[in-house]
Amino acid sequence: MVGCKPPDDPDEVDRDVAPPVTGQEDIEQWFSEGHYQGWACEASSHAADMPSPHGRVRLCANPIIHPDSPGEHPLNSAMVLEIRDPSSGEITGHGVQVHTSAGTRGLDWYWYMKVPLDNATPHDATGLAADGWGYDGPAATVCTECHTMAGTPGHEGHDFVWVVP
Ligand code: HEC
Repeated sequence: MVGCKPPDDPDEVDRDVAPPVTGQEDIEQWFSEGHYQGWACEASSHAADMPSPHGRVRLCANPIIHPDSPGEHPLNSAMVLEIRDPSSGEITGHGVQVHTSAGTRGLDWYWYMKVPLDNATPHDATGLAADGWGYDGPAATVCTECHTMAGTPGHEGHDFVWVVP
């Protein structure tokens, strides 16, 4: 029957809930399609919550992540961050973290971020800050390194996520 696919077909993944984890081109396309705008989002952007290097942001949480239950976030939990121009409020970049495998290590999350060149998040000459899992590269040395502090004394959040709207 036309349109009938096995449930594990990647095309069957509900893109309104789960961001693609197949690299820069796909995730940038997904951001531009606005799927995450239907998630639970902060009403407006705000100045960086310390120790965030991301600057002015607005955060959105997919329907899978449970902010109030302690311990590991459920598989496919995802958070999107819009980076906003501090004066105009315009969206100037995006970040995402997606919980792709069971466990409480940085490598159990896919990390992606592209920032404007004056953003304090460490990035390359194109503004790319991370695109991969937290076992090597900036996803490990930058993202995981700091996000592992979420939920430690003096820091809100838990399991690599600081804030869930
Ligand atoms: C020095 C610490 C630090 C570094 C490095 C860092 N982050 Fe964050 N990140 C934060 C803090 C703090 C917040 C909460 C920001 C806020 O609400 O203003 C945050 C928020 C986020 C969020 C929204 C969900 C959440 O956890 O609150 C995403 C997604 C995110 N960061 C991705 C990344 C990625 C990808 C990298 C690597 C390129 C990265 N971060 C590097 C501290 C950091």
